[in-house]
Amino acid sequence: MESIKVLSLFSGIGAFEKALTNLDINYEIVNYCEIDKYASHAYSVIHAVSEDLNLKDITKIDIGCLPYCDLITHGSPCQDFSVSGENKGGDEGSNTRSSLMWNTVSIVKHIRPRYVVWENVKNVLSKTHEHNFDKYINTLRKLGYNNYYKVLNAKDFNIPQNRERIFVVSVRNDVKISDTWIEDINTKELSMCLKDIIEPIEMVPEKYYLSESVTSKLIYRQNTTAKSGITIVGDLNNSELKMNKRIFSTLGICSTILTTNPPKIYIETPTDTGYKIRKLMPVECWRLMGFSDKDYWRVKETLEKTFYKGKDRTDSQMYKMAGNSIVVNVLESIFKSLLIDQD
Ligand SMILES: C[S@@+](CC[C@H](N)C(=O)[O-])C[C@H]1O[C@@H](n2cnc3c(N)ncnc32)[C@H](O)[C@@H]1O
Repeated sequence: MESIKVLSLFSGIGAFEKALTNLDINYEIVNYCEIDKYASHAYSVIHAVSEDLNLKDITKIDIGCLPYCDLITHGSPCQDFSVSGENKGGDEGSNTRSSLMWNTVSIVKHIRPRYVVWENVKNVLSKTHEHNFDKYINTLRKLGYNNYYKVLNAKDFNIPQNRERIFVVSVRNDVKISDTWIEDINTKELSMCLKDIIEPIEMVPEKYYLSESVTSKLIYRQNTTAKSGITIVGDLNNSELKMNKRIFSTLGICSTILTTNPPKIYIETPTDTGYKIRKLMPVECWRLMGFSDKDYWRVKETLEKTFYKGKDRTDSQMYKMAGNSIVVNVLESIFKSLLIDQD
C-alpha cells in the first residue's frame, strides 16, 4: 500500500494515528493541528514528529498553503454537543468550540482528500443538535463524498469502558469501496474487566484513594451487587457524595473517561473495612483509551521535564488527554475495514 498522507485536525494525542501505526499501515503525517501546548508536546513524542508540523489554532490556518493529503481526521471539540456540557451547540459561525467542526469542512473543500473521518459524542444526533449533523453530511455529499456513520461503544472492542461515540467516515466518490464496509467492522467480545488493566495494589500511591470519611459513607451503602460487577450508586442527594456517585467493581467495566473526575473503583483489601475506594490512575485511563504504557510514561516524563521542572505534577494534563481522546481499538477496527479489507 502506498503511503497515506494524513492531516490530523484537533489532534490531541493522536488516537487515529496510533490506530494506523498499530495496524502497520504505511502513513505520513503531513501536518497536525492542536492548540494545547501539552497535547501538542505529547503528540510529537508519541508519533515521533517535530512540533514544527503543528498548525496550532485551526481558525488561523492559511488554507491555501496546506499540502495535499489523502486522509483528514478530526475529533472536533464536543463540549457544546455533550449532555454534560452547556448545550451551546455547534452552529456554523456561532463561535462555540464545537462549531470548529466547520473549519474542517472548509479545509476538506480545499484539499478534497480521499477520506475524512469525524468522531464526536453521540448527542450530536439528538433533536437539539441533529441539524448540525445533517448539515455536515449534506455539505460533504455536495462536495462529492459518500458518507457512512455508526455509533460504536468501546466495550464492544474488548475495552472495559462504556464509551459510545459517533464515527462519520466520508469517502470521496471516485474512491472504490465496498458498500458494506461499515457493517463489516469487526467487534470483539469483551473478555477483559477493570481488574485486568488496573495497577497492583502496592503500586497505587495513597493520593488516589478517597478520604476515610467519604469512603466510610460509601462503605455503608455497599451492597452485594458490588462483587458481581454492578455499579454501586451512592446517595445522589448528598452533595458530598455527588462527585463519587458511581463506583465500579473491578470485575466489571467503568463509565466514560472524561477530562476530569476519573471513574472510581472499589478495591478489596485485607484491612478492617474489607475495601477501599479510589480514583483510576492516569496510566489506567490511558490503558482504557487503548494507549500503551510506553506512550504514557514517555509523555509523562517529557511533560515533567519540559513544563514542571521535573516535578510529578502532570496528573490533570494526563487525565485530560485521555478523556479527550478516542479508544484506539475502535479506530483500528474502522481503519481495518476501510483501508485493509478493501484490498
Ligand atoms: C476532543 S479533543 C480531540 C482529541 C483527539 N482526537 C485525540 O485522539 O486525542 C479536541 C482537541 O481540539 C483541540 N482544539 C480546541 N480548539 C482548537 C483550535 N482552535 N485549534 C486547534 N485545536 C483545537 C483541543 O485542545 C483538544 O485537544
